[in-house]
Amino acid sequence: MERSSISLEDLPGIGPATAEKLVEAGYSSIEAIAVASPADLVAAAEIGEATASKIIQAAREAADIGGFESGDKVFERRKLVGKLTTGAKSLDNLLGGGIETQSITEFYGEFGCGKTQIAHQLAVNVQLPESEGGLSGSAVIIDTENTFRPERIKQMAEGVGLDPDDALKHIHVARAYNSNHQILLVEKASELAESLKDSDKPVRLLIIDSLTAHFRAEYVGRGTLADRQQKLNKHLHEVLRFADLNNAVVMVTNQVQAKPDVFFGDPTKPIGGHVLGHTATFRIYLRKSKGDKRIARLVDSPHLPDGEAVITVTGEGIRD
Ligand SMILES: Nc1ncnc2c1ncn2[C@@H]1O[C@H](COP(=O)(O)OP(=O)(O)OP(=O)(O)O)[C@@H](O)[C@H]1O
Ligand SMILES: [Mg+2]
Repeated sequence: MERSSISLEDLPGIGPATAEKLVEAGYSSIEAIAVASPADLVAAAEIGEATASKIIQAAREAADIGGFESGDKVFERRKLVGKLTTGAKSLDNLLGGGIETQSITEFYGEFGCGKTQIAHQLAVNVQLPESEGGLSGSAVIIDTENTFRPERIKQMAEGVGLDPDDALKHIHVARAYNSNHQILLVEKASELAESLKDSDKPVRLLIIDSLTAHFRAEYVGRGTLADRQQKLNKHLHEVLRFADLNNAVVMVTNQVQAKPDVFFGDPTKPIGGHVLGHTATFRIYLRKSKGDKRIARLVDSPHLPDGEAVITVTGEGIRD
């Protein structure tokens, strides 16, 4: 989707003060406003509901967003879908050539199965040119468990022939301290993407590692499950919007426990359950195998056959 070059203040009803409030609340582009609800803008900018509706309408026209699209338009956009290599041919093949932009890909599995390793690898690979399976872009990582390791990035960068220090410069990391902060950081990521969109390395990858840990820790007990799902669902829709607006890959991780988990029922089902199931367009279940081998299984994909691939976690990174 093309971003428009006009600024917020070009929209009727937005003066400098309102523009500033909107940007502060994360509505930094016409596109972000176009897909907001009037209530969101009322809360963000202290304006009336009618003004908010008018602004959104104008933003939609300016950004050419909203309403129905003809199938050929959808097809045109699908043609822009990029694919990002995981570093392992077998896993790329399972995914139809790599991890797709404009959708969310969830890696789930128990501790130590390699979710964070794959996240690091993608943050490196996204910087590669398309001829090498990359997207010539930068990466944004929302790190909820403090497991981002620059040393590991350096090793993996060397493994694909990138300058290690240069590779680190194109990875933007923020630590999320709780679920609200995590949600806020998606807005910050959008602002960053907006500011880098005309650079030589626009943001083409958003990682949330882990998507669910804060939600799981903060919402315990049966009474709170519906709240958690609702909040997670809204979060995921914002994330999906990020994927669309930036033609970006979104990779999220989700831990599942091998032992029965009294709070969340079936241990082989990732938390987030059905809500996540419908939003995450690709879901990959990772499990440990012998030594450094991991088995990746593609689950419930809308247009690819289910199947498995064996990958290896090496010093240089993810390989066949
Ligand atoms: N430098 C390295 N060289 C080889 N293998 C490594 C290296 N660093 C980590 N690993 C492998 O990756 C594993 C850790 O995987 P990772 O941290 O990605 O798990 P995870 O799925 O994110 O777990 P969690 O759910 O706890 O976050 C280690 O147990 C090890 O097998
Ligand atoms: Mg991890």
